[in-house]
This record gives sequence, C-alpha cells and structure tokens, in this order.
Amino acid sequence: MLTNQVQGHGFVRKEFVLGTLIGETMKYAIISDIHANLAALERVLADAARYGVDQVVCAGDVVGYGPDPAGVIRVLRERSIPTVMGNHDAAVVGWRDTDDMIGSAKEGTARHRKELGEGDLAWLSSLPYVYEGDGFAVAHANFRAPEGMDYIHTKLDARDSIFSRDEKILFVGHTHVEALYRVGFVSDPHYPDSEQLEPHDFKIEDDWQYLVNVGSVGYPRVKNYSSYVIFDSSTGEVQFRRVEFDFAGYKSALRAKSIPVPPWMEEMGKECGV
Ligand SMILES: [Fe+2]
Repeated sequence: MLTNQVQGHGFVRKEFVLGTLIGETMKYAIISDIHANLAALERVLADAARYGVDQVVCAGDVVGYGPDPAGVIRVLRERSIPTVMGNHDAAVVGWRDTDDMIGSAKEGTARHRKELGEGDLAWLSSLPYVYEGDGFAVAHANFRAPEGMDYIHTKLDARDSIFSRDEKILFVGHTHVEALYRVGFVSDPHYPDSEQLEPHDFKIEDDWQYLVNVGSVGYPRVKNYSSYVIFDSSTGEVQFRRVEFDFAGYKSALRAKSIPVPPWMEEMGKECGV
C-alpha cells in the first residue's frame, strides 16, 4: 500500500492509495474472542467459507472461560490461522497476572493452564501482539501499546490507536461488542474529525482511517449472536457478520465439564427461550 504523508500543524495527515496490491488481495475473515468455544468457532468458520473467505485472522483470546481450549487451538493450528495474543492467552501462559480479572476469568485461566499440553502452551506463548496484513493490521486491544491490552471504548481511544499505525484499517476485539470508528482530516486539514458510528457494512473512503471491533465468536456476553467481520482488501469493503449462538449447546458443554454457567448466559438464555 502506498502512503503519502502531508504535514499539518502538529499532525501528520496520512493519504492512502487503495488497490495497489492487485494480485495479492484477498477476502479476509477477522474473528476474535473465541474463548475455548469450539462449536461457535466451527459455525463462524462455516459461515466465512460460504462467503468465499480466503484467509481467517484471529484477534486473540483463543482461550479463557470456555469448555474446549485444546479443540480451538487444534483448529487454529491445523488451518494455520494467524492469531494475535489476547489478555486471556497471555494470562494462561503466565505473561500477565490475573489480579484484574473477574472470578470466572481467573477460574478459566487456571483450568486451561492445567488442561493444555506443552505444545499448545508453547503455541500460545509464540503469538505476536500485532498481525500486519495487506493494508490492515490486527491486535487484541489498543495498538499504541498492544501488551497493555487497554480497552477501546471511545472515539478518542480509537484515534490513539489509529494514529499509532499507518494502515488504512485496524481490527480489534477484547470488548466482545462490535464497534466502528473512523478518523480523518475532513472538515479541517489541520485537526482530525473522530467519529464512532453504528456498526454497518461500508466501503473504505479515501479521507478516513478506520478501526473496527469485530465482537466475539465464542463469548458474546451482551449480544445473543457470534460476530465477526469480512474484509475484502481489493475493494475495501467491510461486512459485519452475525451468526446464531447455540446457548443450549454451550450450556450443556459447560455442565459436562462442571464449569459454572455464567450469569450473563442465564439472562441471555432466557431472552432466547433456552
Ligand atoms: Fe475476551
């Protein structure tokens, strides 16, 4: 991707040229926060295949909470899915302490650390904090200091990440909720417009840089579906996908391993009649 930089008053305006990678471009599925939920991962991968996705990239939190960490890692490894480090992944391999985690997250971390074999733990330890694709990048949380795993909740948080990178579009997870932000020098050449928009399908426009939160595959928590995003790097089109979440199946999988069903799931299950 070509990048031209125009110096303003204290800001560097980045101008991008799309379509410079013809021949290498692909349709990507960006997934995140699988949290050891193999059934949800398989549903999402099947959905992505129906949409002709060439390459899946995972924004982290492969493990934590769920019933099948080894099953999820097996699929990611077998399919050579590039994956970045999430806070739960870092906690399981001992790179991050669990002091700031809620009880169920601490319990999941300890359980997965015990349950995973050496090979899977080594694979988790090897995950990078940032994945760089053709014209886009993926991290679990904030891009300015990816190891810190700070949440992106506001348009200013998003701007901070966007200004730390040159890519036209960035993808994250971590909050488990889809989100869309954009930053551009549109109304003033010297001061950036920063916006949070309702997540919707869109095509990248020249004047903007974007940050997209793809939500969660395996632990939606405040939504009643799995979510992920399809990005076509040749056209610049971004599509938010939602896939039915099997609450009944997930609850049985938890109970089969004597893992407590989290309160949010009981609530969501009632809404969904489970
Ligand atoms: Fe997560």
